[in-house]
Amino acid sequence: MDERREILELREKLRRWEYEYYVLNMPSISDKEFDMEMKRLEALEALHPEMDDPESPTKRVGSDLGVQTMTEFRQVAHGRPMLSLANTYSEGEVREWYERTKKSIGRDFDVVCELKFDGSSISIIYENGKLAKAVTRGDGKKGDDVTENIRTIRNVPLRLIGDYPENVEFRGEVLMPWTSFERLNRERAEQEEQLFANPRNAASGTLKTLNVKEVARRELTTYIYYTLGEELPLDGHYEMMEKSREWGVNVSRNMRLCRNLDEVMEYIHHWDIERKNLPVATDGIVIKVNSFAEQEELGMTAKSPRWAIAYKFQPENALTRLVEVTYQVGRTGVVTPVANLEAVQLSGTQVRRATLHNEDFMRSLDLHEGDMVYVEKGGEIIPKITAVETKERREGAKAVEFVKKCPVCGTELMRNEEEAAWYCPNESGCAPQICGKIEHFVSRKAMNIEGIGTETVSALYEKGLVRGVADLYRLTYDDLRSVEGFADKSARSVLEELRKSRSVGFERVLYALGIRMVGEVVAKKLAKAFRNIDALRRATVEDMVQTEDIGEKIALNVVAFLKDNDNIRTIEFLTEYGLKMEMEEEAEKASDALAGKTIVVSGKFALHSRDEYKAMIEAHGGKVGSSVSAKTSMILAGSDMGPAKREKAETLGIKIVDENEFIGLLPGHEAGKAVEQLLFDI
Ligand code: IVH
Repeated sequence: MDERREILELREKLRRWEYEYYVLNMPSISDKEFDMEMKRLEALEALHPEMDDPESPTKRVGSDLGVQTMTEFRQVAHGRPMLSLANTYSEGEVREWYERTKKSIGRDFDVVCELKFDGSSISIIYENGKLAKAVTRGDGKKGDDVTENIRTIRNVPLRLIGDYPENVEFRGEVLMPWTSFERLNRERAEQEEQLFANPRNAASGTLKTLNVKEVARRELTTYIYYTLGEELPLDGHYEMMEKSREWGVNVSRNMRLCRNLDEVMEYIHHWDIERKNLPVATDGIVIKVNSFAEQEELGMTAKSPRWAIAYKFQPENALTRLVEVTYQVGRTGVVTPVANLEAVQLSGTQVRRATLHNEDFMRSLDLHEGDMVYVEKGGEIIPKITAVETKERREGAKAVEFVKKCPVCGTELMRNEEEAAWYCPNESGCAPQICGKIEHFVSRKAMNIEGIGTETVSALYEKGLVRGVADLYRLTYDDLRSVEGFADKSARSVLEELRKSRSVGFERVLYALGIRMVGEVVAKKLAKAFRNIDALRRATVEDMVQTEDIGEKIALNVVAFLKDNDNIRTIEFLTEYGLKMEMEEEAEKASDALAGKTIVVSGKFALHSRDEYKAMIEAHGGKVGSSVSAKTSMILAGSDMGPAKREKAETLGIKIVDENEFIGLLPGHEAGKAVEQLLFDI
């Protein structure tokens, strides 16, 4: 078959399969077949850049040329404000709302009961069936343009199906499913990064992430709960939701059309229990008058529509006694207080411990020894203490004071200004810090040394065989054999793994060192900017903050780490052993013709794909801008660049070039010279 035709057909098929899988929940092919077809389409598209289509199912992550970074989100005004709902925790108030509404309407009426999804609200706009824009709620009047991030969500169609209207807006909720939330927090715990308290925070944090690849990895999902438009074909919300599902968006199947109050109450009682089996967090139910005409008749109050009400489920909580507060010391020395409790049953599990986060949180609770405390497990995985029952406080009970000394090594704790955490500064002498650092060093994303787990690290530490990461490379065959569970084969394999780690890139070595606040992304940025460890050691805080995304706090930590004598010795040893302490040379730059220029690429092109143009800009020393602003030097415009962008560019006096002019700007082109003047102008 002609490859171009195959591309078009594959795109159609993949769209259909995504819809069957993500919206209908009825896949007609296996995951493996789907992946194979997607790969086939990717390969064909690479062969036919002239067939580029931003709506292709392969284009969920904006660019396949590495991480696409934006610096901030554009603010966009909502066509119609995004309202909130009147809330209640009382069934009585739901009854009152129902009766009041019935009186207003003056006859029997239908309502729709839906789950109230606990995530982050979103407005998704389709123009001519194409996903045009996705905006967060913001302050209700304007929000952030998060289109690129929303495109990564699998159940958000890039194109609608069937008889959709020309302009339609869907409002709904972006959520992080429980399983993804748990995975993300597990990873963050491993990296000693702050955990997300609940899937709601994780979803809204992810939506505001500027790194599209990271967003795609986090597996968000959406549920649509309202459809707006000038020419909607139906006059009831329920029917409109069913229709919206046919157009391809994800609408929950758990909505119900109710004819009377009893049915509403039945729905509430059913879902108060059943919601625990859902893949996403819900915090209540929403009851909406079905008929659009009746909705209009009822109108709204200053803040919320009169035609809807949210009934919120009571978060589960229990009262139990505080036994004692203990403290955990992490890899970076951060000391976290933990409340040990008398066991209590909560949401089907036994709770014995709850995090107290830090000293400020502990103080805000005004915790006293032996207090009765309320533990809650709302959207949170880790139970938290929400309040103290002061009435039950024992007479003479002492306030719980945060420890002053490290509970493991006894060193006086320290706290940095503006940081909530106390930490133990004895980096090289405090067991959990040493073991934690070694575990981090060997972990998959760092040096990826297989065969050394938590238990092996503890055993090696207890035997006095390792006191720091450098000691790993001093281990002998006999040392390893002396550890329980190590046979001939496993000992040899660990030694081989250690040898192999010499080929791990500098950015990962830097990450593996375990400098506070230096995660994978920061390590990569520092490695790219400073190229080698010597340059990084010479760099001052002022030098470092010049690097994108490196703030003063991070810089201070890096400088302090690299000035510490123990760390210097470790780095010197690792260098001698042969670990990579400098970046490998990247592919040669084509030229510096576009150095210092930020260029926004917009619209459709005939000669190269959009991604190819972006790569060209970078290869010639320029920067790709994500939105038009005063910082933009030039816009490379294809056909159908939006009129709004054009107008903004004109207002800001930004030069707009077409693809022929752009190619002419690059060296090696005959036309290059003629347009050199153009470059000077921008
Ligand atoms: S209807 C005017 N339906 O709850 C209609 N909202 O205060 C406005 N939410 O932040 C919303 N599930 O994001 C509606 N099934 C549902 C919902 C829902 C969750 C959120 C919404 C908003 C808040 C309402």
